[in-house]
Amino acid sequence: MTTTLTPGKAASSDHLGHVIFITAAAAMGGFLFGYDSSVINGAVTAIQHRYHVGSAELAQVVAVALIGSAIGAALAGRTADRIGRIRVMQIAAALFTISAVGSALPFSLWDLVLWRTLGGIGIGMASVIGPAYIAEVAPPAYRGRLGSFQQAAIVVGIAVSQLVNWGILQAAHGDQRGHLLGLEAWQVMLGVMVVPAALYGLLSFAIPESPRFLISAGRIDRAKQVISEVEGTGTDLDARVGEIHAAMRSEHRSTFKDLLGGRSGLLPIVWVGIGLSVFQQLVGINVAFYYSSTLWQSVGVDPSSSFLYSFTTSIINIIGTVVAIVLVDRLGRKPLALIGSVGMTVSLALEAWAFSSLHGGTLPHAQGVVALVAAHAFVFFFAMSWGVVVWVMLGEMFPNRIRAAALGVAAAAQWVANWAITASFPSLSGWNLTATYVIYAAFALLSIPFVLRFVPETKGKSLEEMG
Ligand code: GLC
Repeated sequence: MTTTLTPGKAASSDHLGHVIFITAAAAMGGFLFGYDSSVINGAVTAIQHRYHVGSAELAQVVAVALIGSAIGAALAGRTADRIGRIRVMQIAAALFTISAVGSALPFSLWDLVLWRTLGGIGIGMASVIGPAYIAEVAPPAYRGRLGSFQQAAIVVGIAVSQLVNWGILQAAHGDQRGHLLGLEAWQVMLGVMVVPAALYGLLSFAIPESPRFLISAGRIDRAKQVISEVEGTGTDLDARVGEIHAAMRSEHRSTFKDLLGGRSGLLPIVWVGIGLSVFQQLVGINVAFYYSSTLWQSVGVDPSSSFLYSFTTSIINIIGTVVAIVLVDRLGRKPLALIGSVGMTVSLALEAWAFSSLHGGTLPHAQGVVALVAAHAFVFFFAMSWGVVVWVMLGEMFPNRIRAAALGVAAAAQWVANWAITASFPSLSGWNLTATYVIYAAFALLSIPFVLRFVPETKGKSLEEMG
């Protein structure tokens, strides 16, 4: 069916500039994903005092938004097949905007939970639509690097939210409930998200619909126009459209039913996507971001400087992501994931070992140093591998026919796994911190045979060749 394509190689630098703009605009959804999931950390203490809830209860309340994300992810794929990728971005942007305003001005704790969950649905949608759209518009030769924009935007979103929260806290004289602009500081933190949310909405009007959606909707001329915009005039447009058309089995819209098959209930490739997603979370990456203060305090860091340390983690996360962007199209997805798995297993095992000497909440000096170095090595290894590889692969690994629905299911599984890890950490770590890290290390180790045995290499293939 397919002749091998090399349109990406023909793309001129002008076109590449255009593709980069389109990709960056779509990746704003990733920025909001990172920003929104991390902004709450700066506000939790104040929320706890304002609404008189215990920290364990609050952790559950915060985690509920992740279930909203699972729902958003599950809905996004099919919605994108019906009304288009751009419309889904606009819905997500609207949800983010409403959620930012509502969360800044809640009437009660449950009202806040409602707005956070609504924003969570937006995050879930953005987590699916970003990679799907980017993979669909990117020329194959650059698809890995362009797909990495999503993860790059997520990690920058995390870092920026930490900086903004810090700035707001300084302006409120270090008090999360201090007054600022007629509100309490934590309300301003949650409300500021309205700015990137509105920007995401505006940018979505400036980028074209995906050619694959246009073709499925019968808008062939517009699809050709978009393809020549992103791949260059050297591309044989009729052949390209024919090829996409054939691969889509004309006008087919993916439903959850299309994912069924095989003895295990779902198509094997869908299981692989779910596996990648779930392993990415089960290594405990978000514990490193959401609960970093536990680590800092155990090594004797004063809680007031914990911002600085969390920001260092974010910078390492960004550096690792840049390494991945450089390597993903050169080394390929699988080697990168494997290097990351080995690095994560070793660093998590070292953390587990160091925490075994925890007494009364603090570590002896040597173990403290090991814990700190290992924690940062873990974030680095994650960022240079699974952080980028999973979001890139989820965008590109499924055949056109099932991409949207399969990506939705895999991303929803990822949000559920994120919730399971985040919500269980307070009790698990209270029970035994070493055992908790042994569990994460075991998952990192298990991801090695999983990648070797089940994950296909997708580097350099056109999306049509995946089917
Ligand atoms: C990936 C994960 C996300 C995590 C982030 C950290 O995007 O999917 O859950 O917060 O990496 O950089």
